[in-house]
Amino acid sequence: MKQYIVTGAGRGIGRDTALALAADSSHWVLALSRNREALQQLWETAKAQGCSERLCCLPYDLTHPEPTRLMEELSQWGKLHGIVNNAGLLIHKSFEELTDADWLAMFQVNCLSVVSLIRQVLPLLEVAQGAHIVNIGSMGGFQGSAKFAGLSAYSASKAALANLAETLAEEFSSRKIAVNCLALGAVQTEMLAQAFPGYEAPLSSAQMGSFIAWFVTHGHTFFNGKVLPVSVSTP
Ligand SMILES: NC(=O)c1ccc[n+]([C@@H]2O[C@H](COP(=O)([O-])OP(=O)(O)OC[C@H]3O[C@@H](n4cnc5c(N)ncnc54)[C@H](OP(=O)(O)O)[C@@H]3O)[C@@H](O)[C@H]2O)c1
Repeated sequence: MKQYIVTGAGRGIGRDTALALAADSSHWVLALSRNREALQQLWETAKAQGCSERLCCLPYDLTHPEPTRLMEELSQWGKLHGIVNNAGLLIHKSFEELTDADWLAMFQVNCLSVVSLIRQVLPLLEVAQGAHIVNIGSMGGFQGSAKFAGLSAYSASKAALANLAETLAEEFSSRKIAVNCLALGAVQTEMLAQAFPGYEAPLSSAQMGSFIAWFVTHGHTFFNGKVLPVSVSTP
């Protein structure tokens, strides 16, 4: 069995990534979200799909880490084969309207909570076959891509997350832990509707979730330290 963590699994892309991973009978998935009700719904969906016994749902706020509680949950697994750092926060405001608290909140969820989670579980990621950390970035944080007004803090935090993948890949290379960042384009979710009201994305969260589940399980054979655009359109 291979063990994976998916953050921000209460809805959207994270929810569908967790379901796609749990659909494979050789996987265990720990789904993290702050929202207990959403996690309950996720588990019921997994039950209907016949994979709930491989899905563990843990209410957890990444911005208030509880390492002891997390490690207790993971202790029954022994090792970890991958993490999908999917949880993300987007506050859509002009530069003048963005407060220091907004900047801090986005960097906290989109970047610093990833640093903290990786630090907590790092010893569990040293597996013989090699482990894979996947940061879910954004085209907004991809160098040279089209940029949008109102997304300065969000895009800067995603650029930091992308750079983190490049630097950690180098630092962890001797431990066979690969780190990559997927810079996503538009996917139909609540976050997209908030950032680009009325825009229809060409991809559903189920389609993107299936791709991310494949990527975290197989992508480290082909990529390490890469920031990869996963985008078919620009809003
Ligand atoms: N949709 C797109 O077009 C698009 C494009 C580029 C990149 N992305 C990235 O893809 C990822 C998923 O986005 P989405 O579109 O699925 O967004 P979404 O529907 O808004 O879901 C975001 C998830 O992040 C979680 N989250 C936020 N703050 C959290 C915290 N403090 N602790 C734990 N979980 C937290 C939320 O969980 P709670 O239930 O706890 O609120 C939620 O499940 C994000 O990183 C986003 O930046 C999305």
